[in-house]
Amino acid sequence: MRKMRLLFFLLVCSSALYGQADMKKLIDENFAFAEKQYRYMMTQNPDPAKMPQSYDQKTGKFDSRNITWWCSGFYPGSLWYIYEQTRSEAIRKEAERALGVIEPNQHFTGNHDLGFMIYCSFGNAYRITGKEAYKAIILNGAQALSTRYRPEIRSIQSWNKNDYFDCPVIIDNLMNLEMMIWATKNGGDSKFREIAVTHANTAIENHFRPDYSSYHVIDYDMSTGKPRRKATWQGAANTSAWARGQAWALYGYTMLYGMTRDPAYLKQAQGIAGFILDHPNLPEDKIPYWDFDAPLQPKAKRDASAGAIMASALLELGQYTSGAEKERYVKDATQMIRSLASDAYRAPYGENGGFLLKHSVGALPLNSEIDVPLVYADYYFLEALKRYKDWYLK
Ligand code: GLY
Repeated sequence: MRKMRLLFFLLVCSSALYGQADMKKLIDENFAFAEKQYRYMMTQNPDPAKMPQSYDQKTGKFDSRNITWWCSGFYPGSLWYIYEQTRSEAIRKEAERALGVIEPNQHFTGNHDLGFMIYCSFGNAYRITGKEAYKAIILNGAQALSTRYRPEIRSIQSWNKNDYFDCPVIIDNLMNLEMMIWATKNGGDSKFREIAVTHANTAIENHFRPDYSSYHVIDYDMSTGKPRRKATWQGAANTSAWARGQAWALYGYTMLYGMTRDPAYLKQAQGIAGFILDHPNLPEDKIPYWDFDAPLQPKAKRDASAGAIMASALLELGQYTSGAEKERYVKDATQMIRSLASDAYRAPYGENGGFLLKHSVGALPLNSEIDVPLVYADYYFLEALKRYKDWYLK
């Protein structure tokens, strides 16, 4: 009897701790909604050879992109997250179809985005189905990405030389490292992991400011191996903190710690989390403006995609921390999830082109994808729901 009472007490404490008694309902409802909404989206994509990216409310135009666009893995990845929770056969069939379309990407070497393209898609497919053919594709993806490693700068080159940059490495690139470490752990060459940790260590040296905010682009000088310029491409200014960049960095080092247990990565993730969560410009609903230093606040656009990535990353960081620190990460991630799931961000059924979330920003300085749905906002939102369910609903 005493044991039962203790168990009851612990259960009450843990749900009171994060104020999450209704989170199970929220998560179940969101996955059920996602199944319906993505089945609607399947009827909207005008070209099945392209992958859903966004939707323009004003013109009603559905935006789908060629498979070499960096986002092509998110649609199949989201479908697998939905299938995992709902076991909808229609969703699984579409997920498999989409994988077939993007499969050629396993050999793509045109930029660094292989992790997004291959791991978010085939990685989830392999995790859920265990199909060996998917694993082989991920290993090929890691091999393709490794061709972009430049020993001179101890980094994977993000984009090719262009009119603006000689050898650019962007903070987003951290997200591709998960596939590299996974590949080595799963029978691939040991060089994949070596490349990943070397890249991650170089980024700690060059990408961050003393307050743990990060530059978006480091343009390297291949002859000296040193940064020649620290700049932005999608942020408000070279010296500003572009919100999604901070989200990638938080997710990246949290994931790196989880995969390597190197305490330097945990320290980096904690520092980045502090920058984000303590920032005076982080709104009360915890969904950031598109840049922490965006002009025109509080009227600046929010970026739901950054909020979704942060929520997912903070839930993972909660797994590696304890006490008040862990509580804070989980509490703030919960607030992000609640905000995204509210009418303020989540679209009604049959609207928004079938995407779940509204109000993301792709690249404001380029006048591209401003205040629109974006496929990766949905992907990380679904991932955050899954993580919450797996790790915090006991
Ligand atoms: N990786 C590109 C972006 O975050 O927009």
